[in-house]
Amino acid sequence: MTADAAVELTPEELQAGLTAEQLRTLVGLVEYDASSDPFPVTAQDAVVFVVGNATQTAQFYQAVFGMELVAYSGPETGRRDRKAFVLRSGSCRFVIKGGVSPDSPLLDHHRRHGDGVVDLAMEVPDVDKCIAHARAQGATILEEPNDVSDEHGTVRRAAIAAYGETRHTLVDRSRYTGPYLPGYVARESTVVRPEGAPKRLFQALDHAVGNVELGRMDEWVSFYNRVMGFVNMAEFVGDDIATDYSALMSKVVASGNHRVKFPLNEPAVAKKKSQIDEYLEFYTGPGCQHMALATNDILTTVDVLRSRGVEFLSTPDSYYEDPELRERIGKVRVPIGELQSRGILVDRDEDGYLLQIFTKPIGDRPTVFYEFIERHGSLGFGKGNFKALFEAIEREQDRRGNL
Ligand SMILES: [Fe+2]
Repeated sequence: MTADAAVELTPEELQAGLTAEQLRTLVGLVEYDASSDPFPVTAQDAVVFVVGNATQTAQFYQAVFGMELVAYSGPETGRRDRKAFVLRSGSCRFVIKGGVSPDSPLLDHHRRHGDGVVDLAMEVPDVDKCIAHARAQGATILEEPNDVSDEHGTVRRAAIAAYGETRHTLVDRSRYTGPYLPGYVARESTVVRPEGAPKRLFQALDHAVGNVELGRMDEWVSFYNRVMGFVNMAEFVGDDIATDYSALMSKVVASGNHRVKFPLNEPAVAKKKSQIDEYLEFYTGPGCQHMALATNDILTTVDVLRSRGVEFLSTPDSYYEDPELRERIGKVRVPIGELQSRGILVDRDEDGYLLQIFTKPIGDRPTVFYEFIERHGSLGFGKGNFKALFEAIEREQDRRGNL
């Protein structure tokens, strides 16, 4: 199989103007043999959120993250109990849902978890094959394969349970041309992009991280291995990642070509409460911790987001002045001073380097946050930055009284 056959672009990626080569660089794709994959995955289909106020959250993602509104479902379209906004940036799709009628189950979900991710949906070429394999491997099937249709065609879908109250909906949209799913109507942004602002601030979803309970990380790694045929990535951080106070363990599973990557964290016992413990307490259980959004110009992305009020974790100057780090990272595309003034972290491995930065939690609870990542060959996750990063998170935890 040739490299380009292995990376077949989805309509979303084509529409976003991405080439296979750009996508390969952006999210670090590798070649693999799809014919022996028991659970082939084409791409991440959508990240679905339940929030307390979908109307305003959707505006936030448009006005601040520069996403484009493409579809909508709600009382005006016949869904009386909830509103859902579909947003795009490059090939990345977010769906923001909120309860409208007081008895909406979405409001119960929000009461338990706050704003969070309910579904890491995946596009697959064969829903039935995936579900048959998942069932044989003991997965909980939350929705049996079924067709949903409207005037734009038919979508075949099903869903399996993942950690906590998170699910993976599987979607085959090969026979569908509508803006998202049946029940949604096309809708355009009313937010006007400021003159001179970049067309988009990120092009793709790089990875979505799950926090699971103490002692259960390996169980979930095994779940993704068995049920979804995911592979363990080379950067498999099995040891404790520890600061003086808190510790966690992290392992990474990925679909065959690494198009979908799920790092999984669990807390480890330490002197003080780790960021994972804090998450589990405030999310009331396992859930999605952060999404890494791939950009090809992290400097501009960070400048624009900061000018729109996004707060990032700060990185001490000592990080950039550390001779060991300077030695390790070598030459990157911009002077270190440009990274230092923005607090952008650097990591390098045998394949190349990456630039990354983390926001503070974006909602009221100290749970969900974002990473922005610019890859230059590196397929890693910034292992070399974990300690500096966790110390920055601890400073924030301490300010919240949760350390
Ligand atoms: Fe990450």
